Amino acid sequence: MSLPFDTAAIPAERLPELLGIMPKAELHMHIEGSLEPELIFALAQRNGVTIPYASVEELRKAYAFTNLQSFLDIYYAGASVLLTEQDFYDMAWAYLQRAAADNVRRAEMFFDPQTHTERGVSMATVIGGLHRACVDAKTALGVDAALILCFLRHLSEESAFETLEQALPFRDQFIGVGLDSSEVGHPPEKFARVFARCRELGLHLVAHAGEEGPPAYVWSALDVLKVERIDHGVQSTKDPALMKRLAADRIPLTVCPLSNLKLCVFPQLSQHNLGQLLDAGLIATVNSDDPAYFGGYMNENFLQTFAATGLDAKQAWQLAANSFEGSFADVAAKKQWRDELAHCFASFR
Ligand code: ADE
Ligand code: ZN
Repeated sequence: MSLPFDTAAIPAERLPELLGIMPKAELHMHIEGSLEPELIFALAQRNGVTIPYASVEELRKAYAFTNLQSFLDIYYAGASVLLTEQDFYDMAWAYLQRAAADNVRRAEMFFDPQTHTERGVSMATVIGGLHRACVDAKTALGVDAALILCFLRHLSEESAFETLEQALPFRDQFIGVGLDSSEVGHPPEKFARVFARCRELGLHLVAHAGEEGPPAYVWSALDVLKVERIDHGVQSTKDPALMKRLAADRIPLTVCPLSNLKLCVFPQLSQHNLGQLLDAGLIATVNSDDPAYFGGYMNENFLQTFAATGLDAKQAWQLAANSFEGSFADVAAKKQWRDELAHCFASFR
């Protein structure tokens, strides 16, 4: 595609500044993964919850992960401090402020209701607090925020159906459903029926696939669950036919580079395959996943990934453009952000 500006004229040393100021959308972040250790401790104190760490420093030290499961164990423990509607609001508000500072215009936030309802916290409490923060973000921060309810794939299909039932009174407060938690051993087809029901309800559909799991899980997320986006999907490069399918159907991949580094999906950021995904014509995007646990929010993901892999200004534009294209926002909003992105690049000196 020819662009109305010359990205080759942008010197490499100015690229970090451009990455920071360019407007962008975040399509893959778990709101419970934005709980900073300081907020975990503050909420634990406010709610009289005990956590098995003596200090913020001790908790942060525990963030040395070897794979997805080693992270999830700590992530679910951290989420146990959330009890009231105000807790959910405060968590989301803290994230949305950081997103605004990173020039995120659109944030699609995952939440894991089963992590909370299993502890006796009501669906009304969870969605009420998160949704109130989304409403405030639009007016106070200029961030267009939306919620995607995720089913935990290590739990049963029956539990997912129950969760959907509990959420339906709040149908207008979330835009879609996703599938997250322990991937290997829990293929997408385990949730075929619940996703079919969500499709009938007009919800958007996404699923984590190909984070640690094989390309076969990406195929079944597409063909059995009929998802519109793949979360992660970085294992897809192992299957040329899958790469062709993702490109032909313009299926966005919500890639999370710092997450992949911290969970040892790639041994080094310089070995990340984001450039390969873009070169193959896929709608790849950059996202933070669980920013409080993986060492950075949106701009930090862009900065570190570009520094490590040598991606250039044209690829920066492509990633930001992909993030708007891949979002579930309406056509008018997408056009406005695309125009703003073009203006940002055209006026960058
Ligand atoms: N839940 C929170 N972060 C996750 C990830 N990276 N993969 C699967 N489930 C998650
Ligand atoms: Zn994720």
